[in-house]
Amino acid sequence: MRINQYIASAGITSRRKADELIEDGRVKVNGAVLTSPGYHVEEGDIVEVDGVRVAPAEKKVYYLLNKPAGYVTSTADKEGRPLVTELVPDEVRVFPVGRLDYNTTGLLIMTNDGDLANALMHPSKEFNKKYLVRVQGIVTRDEAKKLEKGIDIGGFVTSPAEVNLLKHDRNSTVAEITIHEGKNRQVRRMFKAVGHPVLELCRIGLGDLSIGKLALGQCRKLSPAEVENLKRAVR
Ligand code: URA
Repeated sequence: MRINQYIASAGITSRRKADELIEDGRVKVNGAVLTSPGYHVEEGDIVEVDGVRVAPAEKKVYYLLNKPAGYVTSTADKEGRPLVTELVPDEVRVFPVGRLDYNTTGLLIMTNDGDLANALMHPSKEFNKKYLVRVQGIVTRDEAKKLEKGIDIGGFVTSPAEVNLLKHDRNSTVAEITIHEGKNRQVRRMFKAVGHPVLELCRIGLGDLSIGKLALGQCRKLSPAEVENLKRAVR
């Protein structure tokens, strides 16, 4: 990017004024005063205006990913397992908002907007998190009520949840559960606490967002309205 555009996109001033700054000897690149207004900034260059480092604001991107099983919700993994970041176009570096277990599928927001990500993950923000779950055995109405009321999952009693028993066969039950917290492996621990280990787990909703018809492993950009909604929800 040409130096005047680089300075302008950092929000310092216009391109024309940036040319004037260069002419006045107020711009340095890698410690040396810049004399050529046609300079193209290269990756790794350190640009300073009046001794203060400037850099263009990074474009913010927001994706909704349908995470498949067998992917780690992280930007790196010591064991070299597949990463959710590999499923998002690499126009800019993004990171996951919150965590889904290695074998959990479903809705995951990926962004480079650190402020929004931190706000969304803050425990004070009680977003509905909706999961479709298949568990071992037949869950009774009483067990579902226990989950709804709040259950001890090992040193922590969950807050009220909603559980819908959808169907069952001889060995397993399919249910929807909506929780408002995000303890580590919470849904798995909740069903285990009533004697029904989770066989499959998929997050289908987060706040107003839902996974819809997005195929496993696919992502889509959030619409400006969806981003605005998220920002409003954490404000
Ligand atoms: N609860 C779990 O147990 N696992 C997840 O991945 C998300 C919620």
